[in-house]
Amino acid sequence: MAVNRITKENQKLVSISTYFVAHNTTMLRLSTLRSRAPLLGTVRALATSADAAATPNRVHGGLKDQDRIFQNVYGTYGHDLKSAQKMGDWYKTKEILQKGDKWIIDEVKKSGLRGRGGAGFPSGLKWSFMNPPGWEKNVGPRYLVVNADEGEPGTCKDREIIRKDPHKLVEGCLVTGRAMNATAAYIYIRGEFYNEANILQGAINEAYKAGLLGKNACGSGYDFDVYIHRGMGAYVCGEETALIESLEGKAGKPRLKPPFPAAVGLFGRPSTVTNVETVAVAPTICRRGGEWFASFGRERNSGTKLFCISGHVNEPCTVEEEMSIPLKELLEKHCGGVKGGWDNLLGVIPGGSSVPVMPKHVCDNVLMDYDALKDVGSGLGTAAVIVMNKQTDMIRAIQRFAHFYKHESCGQCTPCREGTTWLQRMMDRFVKGQATEKEIDMIFELTKEIEGHTICALGDAAAWPVQGLIKSFRPLMVERMQQYHDKDNSTVLYGGWVEGGHVQEGVVAENPVPGHH
Ligand SMILES: Cc1cc2nc3c(=O)[nH]c(=O)nc-3n(C[C@H](O)[C@H](O)[C@H](O)COP(=O)(O)O)c2cc1C
Ligand code: SF4
Repeated sequence: MAVNRITKENQKLVSISTYFVAHNTTMLRLSTLRSRAPLLGTVRALATSADAAATPNRVHGGLKDQDRIFQNVYGTYGHDLKSAQKMGDWYKTKEILQKGDKWIIDEVKKSGLRGRGGAGFPSGLKWSFMNPPGWEKNVGPRYLVVNADEGEPGTCKDREIIRKDPHKLVEGCLVTGRAMNATAAYIYIRGEFYNEANILQGAINEAYKAGLLGKNACGSGYDFDVYIHRGMGAYVCGEETALIESLEGKAGKPRLKPPFPAAVGLFGRPSTVTNVETVAVAPTICRRGGEWFASFGRERNSGTKLFCISGHVNEPCTVEEEMSIPLKELLEKHCGGVKGGWDNLLGVIPGGSSVPVMPKHVCDNVLMDYDALKDVGSGLGTAAVIVMNKQTDMIRAIQRFAHFYKHESCGQCTPCREGTTWLQRMMDRFVKGQATEKEIDMIFELTKEIEGHTICALGDAAAWPVQGLIKSFRPLMVERMQQYHDKDNSTVLYGGWVEGGHVQEGVVAENPVPGHH
């Protein structure tokens, strides 16, 4: 019966076959864009630096408590069903489900919500790819896959949702699943999140017991199941197609696209992979209306957002704020400011380890949204703000990331496999200064050979931090090299060779080799 109703609703959408062709061409184009630069606000093509002028007099930030979606982010209340219901979760869910897929997707489109997993792709559009005209003729299961892998260094927002507000995610699965006409949701949770997985399973069990999930979920006539799958801790498994492979029981290696998951996804069925935060805000958007959500932040950057701030601030935290809040205000209002004061700031990575670092003078005025950060050569990514004061060795910080990406490369593509290894080796020397200035240009060129030439965006993610270092901190790198030269009073050649260094029986002899970590 439920299927019949869904079918009827969607038959209204089936108009002409030319629409189907056009729709899928758009999907291919946008998704190709997404796979090219996912961590840096991909659909940036839509935005311009003139955006600020669109809302010139509006100062963003200062989100009021009544406008917070994640009211329990500090664990003030319980995470059980009753507490969740007191906070407004599961209110009128049945009515939302009964409004149907098109209504939910329209509301999400109106809200301007962009994916919170890093790419910033418009969520309503992405979800609509699951329902091309005639979708119902492809009979069988269809999946919403929730990405709770959260492996990006610096990012700690999805785990807070799962720990403190698990019912927001569970209800979100149902509403988002309904929008996509999915039959079930798989939540792929990072293996290390043992406690979080337990809490989430508890919330799912409660929802089943209360009739909110399963057959005739919430009494809506719609059947929907939610399963948890625990990962094994590989960063690349957060990439949507690697995640699907891993869910299927295979090694988590990204797939070539097309086909895109909405056509051929989990177990070969139509699927969409979506971030925890994106899914968790969907019910509130439907209850309060897309326009309410769109009233926060600048145009094309709308909504409220969880920012997770770590590093050299007095009080690191995860906080929900209005999009487009100035970075300085975010740090001073919610984190007690930079350690040693604002003038002691060296740089900030605004969106997790994959996005380029911004020097202090950029941080002074930048707004925290997709377009503003893109315009200054960085990105909002996952909104994981990593603050570094002047006591930081910036070259060492980026070298540490280079080690991370080399370790996490799945090895399928040569530019990523070999490139991340070279980035690591060269960065090891740059930390000591055992290099020549010309090699800064060489490593930059190397990043350009990796960027855009790989199956997934891990290659780009490895390249961008090094590019950011060179762009903003080149003088520091040169100074380090000078110090090395002065200290050892020796000339360093390409490749870090010093006088007397040679290869003896295949092994480097009498040449200092920077240590490994
Ligand atoms: C190497 C790599 C790791 C990723 N890790 C995550 C992750 O942990 N969580 C996440 O939501 N998205 C991650 N993504 C992005 C996903 O591929 C995908 O774009 C995202 O889950 C889509 O969700 P959204 O539409 O809600 O933004 C990663 C991408 C790459 C390339
Ligand atoms: S870019 Fe790197 S992680 Fe991604 S598929 Fe290629 S080798 Fe694997």
